[in-house]
Amino acid sequence: MKQSAKIIIDGKTFELPIITGSEGERVIDISRLRKDTGLVTLDPGFANTASCQSSITFMDGERGILRYRGIPVGQLAEHSTFVETAYLLINGELPTQKQLNRFSVMLNDHSVVHEDMRAFFENFPRWAHPMGILSSMVNALRAFYPEILERTEEEEINISVTRLLSKVRTMAAMSYKIFRGHKLVYPRHDLTYAANFLNMMFDSPVRPYVIDEHLVQALNVFWILHADHEQNCSTAAVRLVGSAKVNLYAAISAGICALWGSLHGGANQAVVEMLSQIHANGGDMAPFIARAKDKNDPFRLMGFGHRVYKSYDPRARIMKKMCDRVLDRVKGHDPLLDVAKRLEEVALKDPYFIDHHLYPNVDFYSGIVLRAMGIPLNMFTVMFAIGRLPGWISQWKESIEDPNWKIHRPRQIYTGPNERDYVPIQERD
Ligand code: CMC
Repeated sequence: MKQSAKIIIDGKTFELPIITGSEGERVIDISRLRKDTGLVTLDPGFANTASCQSSITFMDGERGILRYRGIPVGQLAEHSTFVETAYLLINGELPTQKQLNRFSVMLNDHSVVHEDMRAFFENFPRWAHPMGILSSMVNALRAFYPEILERTEEEEINISVTRLLSKVRTMAAMSYKIFRGHKLVYPRHDLTYAANFLNMMFDSPVRPYVIDEHLVQALNVFWILHADHEQNCSTAAVRLVGSAKVNLYAAISAGICALWGSLHGGANQAVVEMLSQIHANGGDMAPFIARAKDKNDPFRLMGFGHRVYKSYDPRARIMKKMCDRVLDRVKGHDPLLDVAKRLEEVALKDPYFIDHHLYPNVDFYSGIVLRAMGIPLNMFTVMFAIGRLPGWISQWKESIEDPNWKIHRPRQIYTGPNERDYVPIQERD
């Protein structure tokens, strides 16, 4: 039976259809609202607005559920690899062995970056943030790899997708090597996606990098946990920019810029900075908790809270377990992990955090995993970006293939001055 909602405006009743998603979630369809009533809706931050219908990722913030194409993220973290998960997100199904082999070969074939791009990397100031470099370089990819008219649209998309997945990883490692002033390490055909990344980051002519399969596995899990998260800020940016029919590189570059923000992907860097400050403060977290609760202080407990999760972020649970495993592997102890665990304990007992449903999110423990792998602080958000690529790509692909595609163009409520005359400069006070 078709369901609907009724709204009464100036005594007149309008019926709005209710759409039900495959997990039973119900949404009021307001797409005809303005046409029928002359009114629009106001929803700052889109907290109550579904911008699209999507079959990629399902989240239930109350129950702490996250599934890619129906498969729980915990199962993927346990059994899959990042490349296989990327294939699943982009193509909708897990690959057969043959499809996976072919995908891996394509990723290898596209892994090298045009040599002329090195000049761009080398001319960024040494202090430039790698996220700024990455977003610029991803946009520049279109210039180096222009569209070829003889290709069908599908071939062009497949090549751009593979190129991005492969080259962004290479470019991330390149930007680190150039920042350090070290010799570049090229991708190798005999290494898997994650092993290749670690090798490009840490191999050096004086100290060959020894690949540790446990760290490779941990990196796969890190990237799988970040691979998609439905309509988050950066994905919404990719869809919005993509809706103007720009090329994939430009849309992804916009997503990287959005992810850079400290309330989004930049939080993983901000968490480690905050934990380091607490550690430097002799481990006293009380002033930080007090500041987070103070309405007159913009400070927030980084790595806590989420727009959708009102219970424990399932990714944070997996990430927390991984901290101990990775630290064991590298035979290290990180005092920041002790600080993080104590901070979590204190916050989860505090009425402010309980009442506001604030729990650790994915970024709370992820920085500790990255530190243990030797990833420098300013590369943390780049690591998130590499992980989020399959999500951005699949969401972009779904949006451009949507038969109901529309350019994204929100409305507003104008609150400025009413019409008034231009005043010549000599007559102004
Ligand atoms: N510390 C202290 N108070 C908080 C926090 C926090 N981390 N997060 C939310 N609140 C409070 C906020 O002050 C507000 O209180 P009140 O209702 O009394 O005014 C209430 O909780 C709701 O906050 P909001 O800003 O309306 O919630 P939001 O859904 O717009 O924001 C968020 C979500 C993730 C931006 C926010 O929780 C936050 O700033 N967290 C810290 C940054 C962070 O860890 N970001 C990573 C998010 S997960 C990875 C990703 O998706 O990028």
